[in-house]
Amino acid sequence: MEAVGDIAVIGLAVMGQNLILNMNDHGFTVVAYNRTVSKVDDFLANEAKGTRVIGAHSLQEMAALLKKPRRVMLMVKAGKPVDEFIEQLLGILEPGDIIIDGGNSLFEDTIRRTKYVESKGLLYIGTGVSGGEEGARRGPSIMPGGSPAAWPHVKPIFQAIAAKVTDPQTGAEEPCCDWVGEGGAGHYVKMTHNGIEYGDMQLICEAYHIMKDGLGMTPDEMHEVFKEWNEGELKSYLIEITRDILAKKDDDGQPLVDKILDTAGQKGTGKWTVISSQELGIPITLIAEAVYSRCVSAMKDQRVEASKVFPPSNSRFAGDRKRWIDDIRKALYASKIISYAQGYMLMRAAAEHYGWNLNYGGIALMWRGGCIIRSVFLGEIKKAFDKNPNLTNLLLDPFFKKAIKSCTRSWRKVVSMAVRKGIPVPALSTALAFFDGFRSARLPANLLQAQRDYFGAHTYERVDAPRGQFFHTNWTGHGGRVASGTYTV
Ligand code: 6PG
Repeated sequence: MEAVGDIAVIGLAVMGQNLILNMNDHGFTVVAYNRTVSKVDDFLANEAKGTRVIGAHSLQEMAALLKKPRRVMLMVKAGKPVDEFIEQLLGILEPGDIIIDGGNSLFEDTIRRTKYVESKGLLYIGTGVSGGEEGARRGPSIMPGGSPAAWPHVKPIFQAIAAKVTDPQTGAEEPCCDWVGEGGAGHYVKMTHNGIEYGDMQLICEAYHIMKDGLGMTPDEMHEVFKEWNEGELKSYLIEITRDILAKKDDDGQPLVDKILDTAGQKGTGKWTVISSQELGIPITLIAEAVYSRCVSAMKDQRVEASKVFPPSNSRFAGDRKRWIDDIRKALYASKIISYAQGYMLMRAAAEHYGWNLNYGGIALMWRGGCIIRSVFLGEIKKAFDKNPNLTNLLLDPFFKKAIKSCTRSWRKVVSMAVRKGIPVPALSTALAFFDGFRSARLPANLLQAQRDYFGAHTYERVDAPRGQFFHTNWTGHGGRVASGTYTV
């Protein structure tokens, strides 16, 4: 058996198949394998017919067909199947060979797997792949991390098949794929991407809800609005698909969107982002609200019951519709800036915690094309980090500062009217609340510290004493003299 394969892909579900065909288009010889081997023959006889793709009917055959160091990419369900395949592959591959996991794996699993595979003398890559079916086929965004020594061997393939964008700074064509960092860095960045995806989707849904119930607009009318929005600063894949979804008719000619049950599903990456943010103490409030909004939507039966107990009042917004639409656009834009600022805060904290050297401008460029959150907006983020690689918060960049300032009036107007009319806007309003908190030099946490000290002797710092000096007051006169520790988790 001649070792002609450049890479093997295990898992012939839609993402695996499309990545293989994409690699084939770029001149690579791919070996395809699937646990249910009949799928291999089926793939070769149909989708891969007439290509250079080679089918393997066992892992041993697959390994024998690969050039060294062997590159084996898993496109299987995250979780146990990845560990099972790693175990099998370790028995077949040789030191120096590379195992790549291209699924939506939890970054902590990737940290563990990288160490484990490296301890056996092999190399490991855990990579985010975004862009869905179409992206995998025509050019996804790829976010690899793991063993740095593996990257040069994988780089030519990944960068060839990735989406390409023009760097706003240099004007050069760049692939939406670059080395993210060691261990779980690639999967962490992909997880954050998905969290931001949740936030973007929720913001769009809230804008839709206001237009539908507050302005009484039809899907066709909203289609026109999203079409217009897709020509300005909100231009993005998610706005574009929303435009198209709103125009889609069911078989009876009625808008399909109105026939879809309002309960959202989720596969867990948004939840993981929020869990990680809690662990790192970073307020990604918008993503958290987006995750919880999906949870509220899933409580359909209870919501129907509650709507009878608390029936909605008139939710219509008075005033000029055109002006409202413009206000909603600005509220959405400002909230989106907050969401990305929060996402970047999270990545910065994770980088520090896990010892990753993340390139924030590079991440914006990777997300600029190919992935689900791709947008012109990410070009502005790239520019911000190019100008100042040490930028601590996006909101402090001159471009975003100006953008937020120009939207604030509309943002407050939309959120307050939605609240008055009883239209839920958790993402738009939490973004505004975060903004107001972030720009407050003094918050009411002084009182909170007093409360903690009152009931638990948790101590507090004083405005008239150096930081790090802790005080306790005997608030009631009958408390003890002993204060509790001052640690903060
Ligand atoms: C992508 C998507 C992809 C997938 C999500 C959907 O980047 O291509 O994010 O990874 O569609 O996992 O997530 P939910 O099912 O949780 O909405």
